[in-house]
Amino acid sequence: MQRETLTTRQGHPVKDNQNIRTIGDRGPAMLENYHFIEKISHFDREEVPERVVHARGAGAFGYFETYGKVGDEPVEKYTRAKVFSGAGKKTPLMVRFSTVAGAKDSPETARDPRGFAVKMYTEDGNWDLVGNNLKIFFIRDAMKFPDMIHAFKADPASNVSNPQRMFDFVSRSPEATHMITFLFSPWGIPATYRHMQGSGVNTYKWVNDKGEAVLVKYHWEPKQGIRNLTQEEADAIQAKNVGHATQDLYEAIERGDYPEWELFVQIMEDDYHPELDFDPLDDTKLWPEEKFPWRPVGRMVLDRNPVDFHAEIEQAAFGTGVLVDGMDFSDDKMLQGRTFSYSDTQRYRVGANYLKLPVNAPKVPVRTNQRRGQMAVPDLEEAGDPHINYEPSMLGGFEEANPENHHPPHHPTYNAAAMSAPIDRPNNYGQAGHTYRSFEDWERDELINNLSDALAICDKRIQDAMIEHFTQADEEYGRRVKEGIEKKMKELGEMGSENKVPGRESGQSKYGQGS
Ligand code: HEM
Repeated sequence: MQRETLTTRQGHPVKDNQNIRTIGDRGPAMLENYHFIEKISHFDREEVPERVVHARGAGAFGYFETYGKVGDEPVEKYTRAKVFSGAGKKTPLMVRFSTVAGAKDSPETARDPRGFAVKMYTEDGNWDLVGNNLKIFFIRDAMKFPDMIHAFKADPASNVSNPQRMFDFVSRSPEATHMITFLFSPWGIPATYRHMQGSGVNTYKWVNDKGEAVLVKYHWEPKQGIRNLTQEEADAIQAKNVGHATQDLYEAIERGDYPEWELFVQIMEDDYHPELDFDPLDDTKLWPEEKFPWRPVGRMVLDRNPVDFHAEIEQAAFGTGVLVDGMDFSDDKMLQGRTFSYSDTQRYRVGANYLKLPVNAPKVPVRTNQRRGQMAVPDLEEAGDPHINYEPSMLGGFEEANPENHHPPHHPTYNAAAMSAPIDRPNNYGQAGHTYRSFEDWERDELINNLSDALAICDKRIQDAMIEHFTQADEEYGRRVKEGIEKKMKELGEMGSENKVPGRESGQSKYGQGS
């Protein structure tokens, strides 16, 4: 086979890629060895900072095909977003799945939520739906997020993972009881990325061509079916392979077994909903399906693997602020906080021109005066008048969209005082108890076993607080965790000081969520 010649990044053929240039065959190296210096200094800069959360991930490309309807109704009744109109229309997309707390190469068998981030390159610009596999979250106010993540990651002094940190935080955050109930059940370890659901978790709005809005939640359902792992199964996989989920996704797409998910929405009138015993904008709650049915709107197929993981997946940048016409933000306090955080971290992690990278750039013209910055790439076709990089101007350049050519905007109105306050109707335990009771027997047994294992090595004050939360959710739940902790502690005591589980003294166990 005729093979192409290796070149430098300046396009020069590489004549010797094995030996640096030296004085004599054993002598010191010379600064004029341009190829060597380019090669080694590029290598020295090959890594970018990993994501502060969701560092471990895998991704792929594909398309979204709309049904043009939401259930039996025309989708236009609720949203004018073009990505949903015209049955059969396909929109290209990319997806990144991830774990949350671990580092970039951490095991994919972790008991941890899985990220489910989708970027659609729509005809109206990009739409990102940055979700997780589980449909709810630990906390309901963005103010608590940095503390939560600090508690879930390793001890800042020892760098040792330790479930006591997580339960210390969670025991003082009763709103997390519902999420902990899912996380410590088998739902906390999806078998692979292909066999898990996805959910937008936070509440968004859909806006129709009259400017009327409804609240909406998104859910992805895998056509491959849902599969979760017991702790024992996860331990067995982890002993042999820390990247099984990445490998599974890549190999399935390589062999043409393209994974597919159906997209459903739940719709609710944009209102306080006094008839509900929870706030509809509280992301620790599920919207009951009997009142707010899941309605299919389209399907997603993943049919292409990345050709360059770093360029296409590691540098992918998703954000909750990336919405298209026909969509809007709800007042969900987590969503509001998230919307600042994503692009803020990406300007640091990837760089000011992160939106110029092919994976992040929309597939529609970008006509912006936000030019320059490190690694700026000129867009000669879209530059417009190269002299006018401001707006408004009578001389040229781009002008803002004419409102007459656009649908009426959605204008939420407020009449309230500014304040820092918790929401009313916190109802921290009702749905947690319901979820506990809805599990199958083996899932409940796993839940009790996993919680007992992790809590047995925690401080007594934390154990007592967690038992109280579980009891509030369901009396049997609390009692079984209490008995489970006592049993585990007895077993640990009987093992004697020489045979204690590693890290017992520092509260370390296999349930630590860090890397
Ligand atoms: C990633 C912040 C809650 C899902 C991230 C990143 C940040 C962040 C800074 C790293 C982004 C990057 O480096 O590109 C926050 C904040 C939250 C929050 C401040 C709460 C106030 C959530 C929730 C979900 C979620 C509730 C689930 C719906 C994700 C996913 C990623 C991510 C899937 C990975 C995206 C990717 O694959 O690149 N988050 N997050 N986050 N977050 Fe959140």
